[in-house]
Amino acid sequence: MRIALPRWIAHRGGGALAPENTLAGIRLAARMGFRAVEFDVMLSADGTPVLIHDETLERTTNGCGQVSETADCELFALDAGAGERIPRFIDAARLCRELGLLANVEIKPAAGHEQATAETVVRMAADVWRHAPEQVLLSSFALDTLVVARDLAPDLPRSPLFELVPGDWWRIFEQLQGTALHCDALGVSDAVLAEAAEQGVPVLCYTVNDAAQAAILLGRGVSGFFTDRLDRFADQARC
Ligand code: G3P
Ligand code: MG
Repeated sequence: MRIALPRWIAHRGGGALAPENTLAGIRLAARMGFRAVEFDVMLSADGTPVLIHDETLERTTNGCGQVSETADCELFALDAGAGERIPRFIDAARLCRELGLLANVEIKPAAGHEQATAETVVRMAADVWRHAPEQVLLSSFALDTLVVARDLAPDLPRSPLFELVPGDWWRIFEQLQGTALHCDALGVSDAVLAEAAEQGVPVLCYTVNDAAQAAILLGRGVSGFFTDRLDRFADQARC
């Protein structure tokens, strides 16, 4: 499925200017003129999808232990930075709809929870975006979750995500009926960019915080970027 993709996507909600993966970050991205945000989604011990990047709580909250072993009552009492709470995915999704933001929902299953995470997140996304599927973009490093997405909600756009794009990425992309190719800016090769251009596949790179690096990547054929530095790209993000 082809959708309109903004060039700039706020990484982990509001990038480096707000606590990552929080509603405050998403609101900030919208206020700064960003038209798209990316955030990471994982299941709690109660099976609730929440916004968080790491499998453990220590780096981004005042809690400790595994997200997948922490009950909601404990999880939602934690401080995720500047007094923010860990958001439920459903609340982040509704906020994006309300603010008119394209949501790149990165399905980030804790190890061993791939199937349950995919089913829960995809079902919820299919419901929230049922009248606006072009406003959501599912992605994951865990490619099996995107197979679940393709089968459960074929109308929702989805993108495989790679640190290093494998040589057979196009075969994978075709099987998933992908929308864009998401990958690490540091490892993307000219061969991959040429093949993507030939196939008409947009390439979105993470994490680009430097204007000179962005200009070079654009020249090489990259379509868009995930950035932590919303302040540096706010002017361009409105376009
Ligand atoms: O989805 C792009 C980017 O967020 C992937 O890396 O580790 O920040 O989730 P990470
Ligand atoms: Mg991410």
